[in-house]
Amino acid sequence: MSLEGAPGQSAFLFIIRALNHKQVTEWLDLIDMHIHQLSDQLINQIAAGEVIERPSSVVKELVENSLDAGASEITIDLAQGGISRIRVRDNGCGIAREDIPLALSRHATSKIQTLDDLESVASLGFRGEALSSIASVSRLTLNTCTAGASQGWQVSYDAGVSDQQPIAHPQGSTIDVRDLFFNVPARRKFLRAEKTELKHIETLLKRIGLSFFDVDFKLTHNGKQVYHWRAVDKASEHPVRLQSVCGQAFVENAFIIERESTGLRLHGWVAQPTFSRSQADMQYFYVNGRAVRDKVVAHAVRQAFGDVLYHGRHPAFVLFLALDPTTVDVNVHPAKAEVRFRDSRLVHDFIYQTLHRAIAELRPGDGSTTAPSGFVDKLRAAAIHAEAGPISGPTGEYRASPQQSAIALELNDTAAAYQKLYGFERQNTVTDRGNVDIFASDASANEVPPLGFALAQLHGLFILAQNKEGLIIVDTHAAHERITYERMKTAYEQEGRLLQQPLLVPVTLHVSEREVQIVEEGKATFETMGFEVSPSGPESIIIRQIPAILQGADVASLLRDILSDFLAHGRSNRLETTINEMLASMACYGSVRANRKLVMAEMNALLREMETTERSGQCNHGRPTWVQLSIAQLDQLFLRGQ
Ligand SMILES: Nc1ncnc2c1ncn2[C@@H]1O[C@H](COP(=O)(O)OP(=O)(O)O)[C@@H](O)[C@H]1O
Ligand SMILES: [Mg+2]
Repeated sequence: MSLEGAPGQSAFLFIIRALNHKQVTEWLDLIDMHIHQLSDQLINQIAAGEVIERPSSVVKELVENSLDAGASEITIDLAQGGISRIRVRDNGCGIAREDIPLALSRHATSKIQTLDDLESVASLGFRGEALSSIASVSRLTLNTCTAGASQGWQVSYDAGVSDQQPIAHPQGSTIDVRDLFFNVPARRKFLRAEKTELKHIETLLKRIGLSFFDVDFKLTHNGKQVYHWRAVDKASEHPVRLQSVCGQAFVENAFIIERESTGLRLHGWVAQPTFSRSQADMQYFYVNGRAVRDKVVAHAVRQAFGDVLYHGRHPAFVLFLALDPTTVDVNVHPAKAEVRFRDSRLVHDFIYQTLHRAIAELRPGDGSTTAPSGFVDKLRAAAIHAEAGPISGPTGEYRASPQQSAIALELNDTAAAYQKLYGFERQNTVTDRGNVDIFASDASANEVPPLGFALAQLHGLFILAQNKEGLIIVDTHAAHERITYERMKTAYEQEGRLLQQPLLVPVTLHVSEREVQIVEEGKATFETMGFEVSPSGPESIIIRQIPAILQGADVASLLRDILSDFLAHGRSNRLETTINEMLASMACYGSVRANRKLVMAEMNALLREMETTERSGQCNHGRPTWVQLSIAQLDQLFLRGQ
């Protein structure tokens, strides 16, 4: 007897609930509730319950099959968010006539044969249950034709495979899925509005599109094209696809990651920390080409960005991890959205270190440094807004022309001061005629540092500087804060690490037996962290000494957190985080406050320090420390040449 989706199901449950145990047994006897084999159709529908959650799951399975079939062109046509129709056409290898019934039956696949194959599986599919699952909850038609065959074949599925009909079809397959869940009312009820289902499908295709650059994808909805991503073959063209999927701003703010070591390779793009997002919606991670969600990976990435991102902000990235397939288990999730690494610690540390270094090494002048697209438009909109009032502003303080000559004068000061400070000689840059254009000669152009030379300070808040590209605006406090922070971290690492401070009154903590054991076993580890801590009872520990820098911090709760990290993950980076937080707040204190007037030499010194300081593009809270407005953007702003 079938319960799944049966019309009388709720009435059935109601009766069961109303009866006592003895009555139930008698009643079940009456309706012959003995063990029996489920029908194929029902087994498939139960499998579909796991694999096919909504239209986007169908699209995922069909497109993955097309990719496994080696297709270079895939077209997805949808109607009503995929609810009434999903048709996927490909130019892959097609299915041989004699294999067609197998393709539609459960546990039948061309992708693996043995357990060994499963261990090193390279295809996206391998479970052999997608087509049969989809067919059991929809009206499915399959058209297919193999290379060199004189004609193609069509079958449809309705509780079994129909007879094969000859048809004309180019090499490849077309799978047409209509009326999803027409026979599973329980599932149909959970479907959302057409627009929402379409969004799910778009999100899914973005995920796939980013790992198959050399495949052409077309998506239409209700007869209208949603997008068409052309295949890009060369790596140099990858940004084209990246831009179609993640947008122009991502590409402008992304830098390339590429590292290989100990059998692991990580490559892809990570957006500058200043391009963080309020949601984790631009995070693409692939393991051997398969899009996955993974806790280990997510943790490593979060930790790598820990020092440069605001709380509640999320980094944006597209990253590909490649590793020996036998070291990762892909068969842990019905929709294959999760994986399990054999050595997850190794993978975690590799990802963390790669990203952490890459972020630390970002310097002004690396990759894209210009203000994001749309910035000029926003600026112009703001300016036009301001035009409504008098140009000199209410106080009449700002006037264009006198200021320009002031800048000209100061430029000479700048160059001279710079020369004095660094003994750095630039020919032809400053002539005794008072040349305003310090970058006039080509010879000197190469020597202009990425952040250029200071022109002036604005309202005691911003440094304005000129480089080869155009104008640089620096948030003085933010930049100084980062520099001080990084300096303090280095100093701490060199000298402070071993500085310990005895507690006047030792702190006793009540903890679990397991935690006491961790303290006992990890005494040496705690010592290297600057703690003197030992068991003081079966369920208590005593802290006598702490790292000097933690003076005044809540040591008891820090130690509790460290212990629970050890319990959960076998290690903890909480001490480092806490120390960094302490250093950051000290740095914030010690940094240039607003309205402090800086002389040219100080401004230039700050610019030079920014160029050599790790993570100097963001302040400790993840806000940008500087932006660049190129001459082209300024031209655009003033509508020059338009
Ligand atoms: N678009 C396609 N082109 C060629 N062969 C296909 C296509 N879709 C499915 N097949 C064949 O049908 C089989 C069953 O597909 P499926 O149920 O998705 O299982 P799996 O992908 O796990 O093998 C595949 O192994 C493959 O041989
Ligand atoms: Mg499949």
